[in-house]
Amino acid sequence: MSFKKFLITGGCGFIGSAVIRNIIENSNHKVCNIDSLTYASSLKSLKSVIDNKNYFFIKTDICDYEAIKKIIFEFKPHIIMNLAAETHVDRSITDPKKFLDTNIMGTYNLLQISLDYFKSLKKNQKIGFRFHHVSTDEVFGDLKNKRNSAKENDRYDPSSPYSASKASSNHLVNAWHKTYNFPIIISNSTNNYGPFQFPEKLIPCIIINALNEKKIPIYGNGLQTRDWLFVDDHVRALLKVALFGNIGETYNIAGKNEYQNIKVAEIICNLLDNIAKKKSNNLHFYKELITYVKDRPAHDRKYSLNTYKIKHQLNWRPLESFETGIEKTVKWYIENQNWWKGLT
Ligand SMILES: NC(=O)c1ccc[n+]([C@@H]2O[C@H](COP(=O)([O-])OP(=O)(O)OC[C@H]3O[C@@H](n4cnc5c(N)ncnc54)[C@H](O)[C@@H]3O)[C@@H](O)[C@H]2O)c1
Repeated sequence: MSFKKFLITGGCGFIGSAVIRNIIENSNHKVCNIDSLTYASSLKSLKSVIDNKNYFFIKTDICDYEAIKKIIFEFKPHIIMNLAAETHVDRSITDPKKFLDTNIMGTYNLLQISLDYFKSLKKNQKIGFRFHHVSTDEVFGDLKNKRNSAKENDRYDPSSPYSASKASSNHLVNAWHKTYNFPIIISNSTNNYGPFQFPEKLIPCIIINALNEKKIPIYGNGLQTRDWLFVDDHVRALLKVALFGNIGETYNIAGKNEYQNIKVAEIICNLLDNIAKKKSNNLHFYKELITYVKDRPAHDRKYSLNTYKIKHQLNWRPLESFETGIEKTVKWYIENQNWWKGLT
């Protein structure tokens, strides 16, 4: 494949850092990582690539017009992959403005500057350029009373400030394609899990609380259903979408591992019973730590994505089952306590 320059936003986050590690470790493509280093970021996640000549990092906010303009016009990317976002639903409920600023206005800022950059390119340079916006299954809202998984063109019906801000950003990205013929692609994925995920998210929270022998909080009745996608499977899908997806289109990405939250907690606790070091005397099984807590407002009961399109058009399938992926993840958190201890 021809040489590419990737501009990745949010590359110090969970998924962005996995994308960058994959590109740098498996290709000769160049990566410029833009991240404002919010609480959710970790430079340690990029330790393995930091000295590579094909990688460099610039601490910048995607809302900063002048800084982003300078970076895009100087770096001259072939692919812009936008992963920078505020991502924690609970925080979007207590402090929604940050979500609107980054997820909506930040995306707008990137679109507007990238469009100006695209217009400045010669005809043959325009051919390989793509703006890939990374988004979520949460834009489709609660599927509890629907029979089928959401398809790419189903109506958006977000419930939280987070999902509403992501749905808004998807609408903006589509509008820039329709109005300005700007070459965009959108992908919506289900819940990711794997190494280097920030401790506040469900799976690391369960693992870390269990290891610390603290209560494992489960919202409401724990019967909310999510699909779980191993992060490296998501990364392979993102690269396929960015490089080979059809311009102007949206792709769903899912692991096809749908589990209720309580089941996820029980699976992790059972795994830890088998592989973690000895617990203190008064704890017999990790699942004794599971504690139901007051539900989050507007908590969607079910998300689920139909992945027929990406499977048949781009020949992508997840390689990891939940059983294999969760075991790798639990072991990683046990073996990499230095990574998460400073973040909790
Ligand atoms: N994690 C999931 O399960 C999941 C599922 C579907 C979609 N997504 C989407 O994938 C993308 C990445 O998710 P993640 O889980 O890696 O998120 P994350 O919270 O782990 O990382 C987000 C990164 O963006 C950076 N960032 C935040 N605001 C910024 C700003 N204004 N300017 C520059 N950088 C900024 C943060 O510092 C952080 O490094 C997001 O757009 C998210 O909506 C995530």
